[in-house]
Amino acid sequence: MSKKLYIQTLGCAMNERDSEHIIAELEEKENYSLTDNPKEADLILINTCSVREKPEKKLFSEIGQYSKIKKQDAKIGICGCTASHLGDKILKRSKNVNFVLGARNVSKISQIIHKDRVAWVDIDYDDSSYVFSQKQNSNLKGMINISIGCDKKCTYCIVPHTRGNEISIPSDLILNEAKRLVDNGTKEILLLGQNVNNYGRRFSTEHKKINFTQLLHEISQIEGLERIRFTSPHPLHMDDEFITEFATNRKICKAIHMPLQSGSTAILQKMKRGYSKEWFLNRVEKMRSLMPNLSIGTDIIVGFPTESEADFLDTLDVLEKVRFDTLYSFIYSSRPHTEAASWCEDENFKGLVDEEIAKERLAILKDRHKAILQEDNAKLLHQIHSVLLESYDEENKLLEGRSDNNKLIRIHSLDNLVGKILPVRICKINGAQLMGEFI
Ligand code: 5AD
Ligand code: SF4
Repeated sequence: MSKKLYIQTLGCAMNERDSEHIIAELEEKENYSLTDNPKEADLILINTCSVREKPEKKLFSEIGQYSKIKKQDAKIGICGCTASHLGDKILKRSKNVNFVLGARNVSKISQIIHKDRVAWVDIDYDDSSYVFSQKQNSNLKGMINISIGCDKKCTYCIVPHTRGNEISIPSDLILNEAKRLVDNGTKEILLLGQNVNNYGRRFSTEHKKINFTQLLHEISQIEGLERIRFTSPHPLHMDDEFITEFATNRKICKAIHMPLQSGSTAILQKMKRGYSKEWFLNRVEKMRSLMPNLSIGTDIIVGFPTESEADFLDTLDVLEKVRFDTLYSFIYSSRPHTEAASWCEDENFKGLVDEEIAKERLAILKDRHKAILQEDNAKLLHQIHSVLLESYDEENKLLEGRSDNNKLIRIHSLDNLVGKILPVRICKINGAQLMGEFI
C-alpha cells in the first residue's frame, strides 16, 4: 500500500515547481501518493518561503499545529528557502521536525526522508537539478526551470543567500524538456527563474551560449507548442531585442510580471536595482506601443529604509502611469544576510521608516490600485481574446480559461472544450469576474 504525503507550499512559482519535483520523486521512488489531509499523512512537508519575516515566524506555529494532529509515527520535513536560511536551527527549535532540506537540494528528497534529525542545506551547484521532474500539475500547462539562484544583490533580498549563485540550465536540456512536454499534450509552457532574462550569463560547464531572447525564439519553434510564458524578468535586462521578440512572436503570451519595487530613482539606487524610474517607464511605453493589450503585473515594497514622502509619491506616479493589471505590495521587512539589514543594525542610522507610516503607504497604494482596476476593467467589455480552456464545471456548464494576457474568463458551454484555444468575446463583467462568449 502506498504511503501518504501532505505538502504545503508557500511563496513563489519556483517553490511550486520545487514541490512538483518533490512529489514526483516521492511518488516514483518511494511509493507515496498525495493527500490533502495532514491527519492521514505519513509524511508532512512544508515548502517554505523566507522573503519576508512574517511567514517565517508562522512556520514554527505551523509545525506545532501539525505535530498535534499528525499520526503518531508520521514524519515532518521542512524544505525551501527558510530551510536553507535557518538550517539546523529549525531542528534545535523544534524536536518534532525530522529533517530540513534547503531550496537548492530538493532533488535529494528521497534520500533525506530515510534520515532523522538532519539538515542538508548546502548551496553548491546541485547537478541533479538539471534533471527536470517528470511531474506537472496540469497536462495542458507545464513549468520549466531555466535558471536557479540569483546573482543580483538587491539590498533587501534574502534569495541570493537561500538559493545561491545564479546558474543557467543548458538550452539543449530546456528544449528537450519542452519537446517532451509538448509530445505529452502540453500547450503552454511557463519558463521559470529568479531573473529569467539574465539567462545565459553563467553555465556551470561549457555550453552553447544563448541569451533569453534567443531561448524564447528557439522554444517557440517547437511544433505543437501554442503558448509561452515566463516569470520573472528583471526590468534592467529588458533590452530592445527582447521587447521586439516578445511583441512579434505570436506564441509568447502578452503578459509580463515586471517587478518595480519602488518608483523613486533614489530608492532604486539604494536597493541596487540597476535601473531608474525613467528606464522603467520607458520600457513600459515601448512595450505598450507594440502590444496595446499587454497585461503588466508588478511587485512594490513600501517603507524601504530612507523612503520619504516624495519617494513614495514617485511610486504612486508610476502606478498612475502604468496602471498595473496586478500588484503585489509589501511593507519592507528586514532580512538577515542583506545589505539593508546591516544599515538598520547601526544605532546611528536614521533612515528607518515608521511602521505606521509604512502601513499607511501600503493602504494608499492598494486603494489606488483597486480603483484603477475598477476603472480599467470596464474597458475589457467586448474585447476579443484567445483563451486556453483549462477546466469544465459539468454541473454549471461553465468553462474556465485564461486569455493570453492572463485574464481569467468563464464561458457558458454545453460542451467540454478543455484543452482548446478559442477566440472569446468578453460579454459581461461582474466585479473582477469576466464572462465571455465564443465568437
Ligand atoms: N521585504 C519586503 N518585500 C520583499 N520582497 C523581497 N524581499 C523583501 C523584503 N525584505 C518582495 C519583492 C519581491 C517579492 C517576491 O517579494 O517585492 O519582488
Ligand atoms: Fe531578490 Fe533582487 Fe534576485 Fe529578485 S533580483 S531574487 S529581488 S536579489
